[in-house]
Amino acid sequence: MLCSDTPFASSFTSLPNAPRLLLAPMEGMVDEIMRRVLTDATEYDWCVTEFARVSGTLLPLRFFTRIAPELLEGSRTAAGTPVRVQLLGSEPACMAENADRLAELEPAGIDLNFGCPAPTVNRHRGGAVLLDEPELLGDIAAQVSRAIAGRVPFTAKMRLGVQDKSRAVEAAQALADGGAQMLVVHARTKEEGYRPPAHWPWIARIAEAVNIPVVANGEIWTVDDYLRCRAESGLRDVMLGRGAVADPFLAARIRCHLRAQAGCSPDDDWHALRPFIHAFWQGVQRKVEARHAPGRLKQWLNLLRRNYTQAELLYQAVRPLREAHDVQIILQTFIGVMDVAGDVRELAHH
Ligand SMILES: Cc1cc2nc3c(=O)[nH]c(=O)nc-3n(C[C@H](O)[C@H](O)[C@H](O)COP(=O)(O)O)c2cc1C
Repeated sequence: MLCSDTPFASSFTSLPNAPRLLLAPMEGMVDEIMRRVLTDATEYDWCVTEFARVSGTLLPLRFFTRIAPELLEGSRTAAGTPVRVQLLGSEPACMAENADRLAELEPAGIDLNFGCPAPTVNRHRGGAVLLDEPELLGDIAAQVSRAIAGRVPFTAKMRLGVQDKSRAVEAAQALADGGAQMLVVHARTKEEGYRPPAHWPWIARIAEAVNIPVVANGEIWTVDDYLRCRAESGLRDVMLGRGAVADPFLAARIRCHLRAQAGCSPDDDWHALRPFIHAFWQGVQRKVEARHAPGRLKQWLNLLRRNYTQAELLYQAVRPLREAHDVQIILQTFIGVMDVAGDVRELAHH
């Protein structure tokens, strides 16, 4: 059995040294469906939406509610986890106007993205490419902070630089001086993309140089990674990205470990995971066109198979399938019979 996250988590988070565990924004992967599933599976202090791109116009309210339907539900997932909304852009006044409008919807927080390495985004001066311009970062943060005027928490997420890390501390200080109340630091440059390692000691340097809380991010896939990140960054608060998608119980495992609680689940706890896969598939089918649904499931299974043997089998079974209907049959059968036995590769041929 997984150590039950819900009953103990409230007492856990009230402990003085409880770490903050945040669910990372992941465009194209962690949308409202995945946020719901992952926050049902384990408790996070909050999650952050994929970025809303701001470029020259005042976005309509429905743009924000499309990215964050949770805004219509008190900015919380079904499990009650707060959802913060992320903005990406480079024009301070326009970012401020949009933050002001977004604040009308009372999000659980507003976050700014200075970490996206995607060429299409960077070409339009968005995301990580701005890290070479600390003055601009400071200006964006200051104008956004003034526009929000304390109505909602205001945070920023950054990488260590564009090509190198020489201006990492300066960039962080500019964001903090501009009024960001917390920084999440993904410990890699834009150039380093998602290649390991993450340079956790750099997060320590940044945390020493700013007077706001800092959250460590990057390459935490296991409890051991969390412990190493904590040792190297000196921080206990972390944001989990791909690791949380690959193991929906990772945050719970970290909490179990820190409480030295007996009964933490074994790593490969397929039985506990199955209802969440089911819920995800239901959500995907409701939201996306049928032809895109199999791709979403494959994307998740591709990460899950790092940790779950049965996910590997299921992944291999659905990989060649293009029709949602065919995936549905495999999934139903697979999820339904795995207690008994069954090799999904066999099922796939029926
Ligand atoms: C597919 C994908 C989409 C992402 N989208 C966003 C995003 O919209 N906003 C953001 O700030 N970071 C985004 N990130 C970066 C993650 O939030 C996180 O910083 C990064 O994956 C490192 O953490 P990890 O090693 O735990 O995954 C994305 C990462 C991935 C892999």
